[in-house]
Amino acid sequence: MSDIILETVGLTKEFRGFVAVSDVSLRVKRGTIHGLIGPNGAGKTTCFNLLTKFLPPTRGTITYDGRDITAMKSADVARLGLVRSFQISAVFPHLTVLENVRVALQRQRGGSFDFWRADGLLRRYDDRARELLEDVGLIPWATITAGELPYGRKRALEIATTLALDPVMMLLDEPTAGMTHEDVDRIVALVKRVAKGRTVLLVEHNLKVVAGLCDQITVLTRGRILAEGDYASVSRNPEVIAAYLGTEVDSVGVPAHG
Ligand SMILES: Nc1ncnc2c1ncn2[C@@H]1O[C@H](COP(=O)(O)OP(=O)(O)O)[C@@H](O)[C@H]1O
Ligand SMILES: [Mg+2]
Repeated sequence: MSDIILETVGLTKEFRGFVAVSDVSLRVKRGTIHGLIGPNGAGKTTCFNLLTKFLPPTRGTITYDGRDITAMKSADVARLGLVRSFQISAVFPHLTVLENVRVALQRQRGGSFDFWRADGLLRRYDDRARELLEDVGLIPWATITAGELPYGRKRALEIATTLALDPVMMLLDEPTAGMTHEDVDRIVALVKRVAKGRTVLLVEHNLKVVAGLCDQITVLTRGRILAEGDYASVSRNPEVIAAYLGTEVDSVGVPAHG
């Protein structure tokens, strides 16, 4: 089994001549939390859409777990264990928190909702759903409808429904976007917990979160890889600092001098 779980070579995406992702060769090590960062418009989300097959690349290849997935369909890639949060796992606001996770578990099994299955099986779904809610700290919210959840808890539910698919590698696109400090801390702890025994690729704006979570970081600007390394090294890199300068240096706290 290779040390590298996900690798892209020369990954490129053009939108009518505009190059959103340009010649990106990314290597993600198995069992790590890998951060993908960069200023707005750097191409992070487009990269995610390429990796999870929501968009076809213009050029380049993607290898996941030793298999060329460049031409595969999104659902097939998810079945191999490469799952993007908020992908298949839409949250149904009128269902309870527990029911949402149960539906995600049932979908993973057979596609249809299949409410006619044997009682024993339903109970097993229930037990597993409770375990997942426990993992994300949502047990006290189990019987509340998802629509009533506060924002930060909703993201936790989305993570639980993603975990229901039993991912080998999870891709999280800005899991802390729009959150309060308290919620951010909780999500950081949660990502740490769910990353055990998995690989996580994380797009994140909040550099404190990146510093606290990521083993390895790739910095994108204008679709290209600008720098790679651990947080200490990329945050000291003058080119990285320059890329962030003027846009978000104050809010993210990148040191002006390394
Ligand atoms: N479907 C699309 N059609 C045209 N341009 C797009 C499309 N999606 C993204 N872009 C452009 O590609 C660039 C990268 O966008 P995106 O990947 O969303 O960046 P990020 O997630 O890093 O903020 C932006 O300039 C954006 O306007
Ligand atoms: Mg984005």
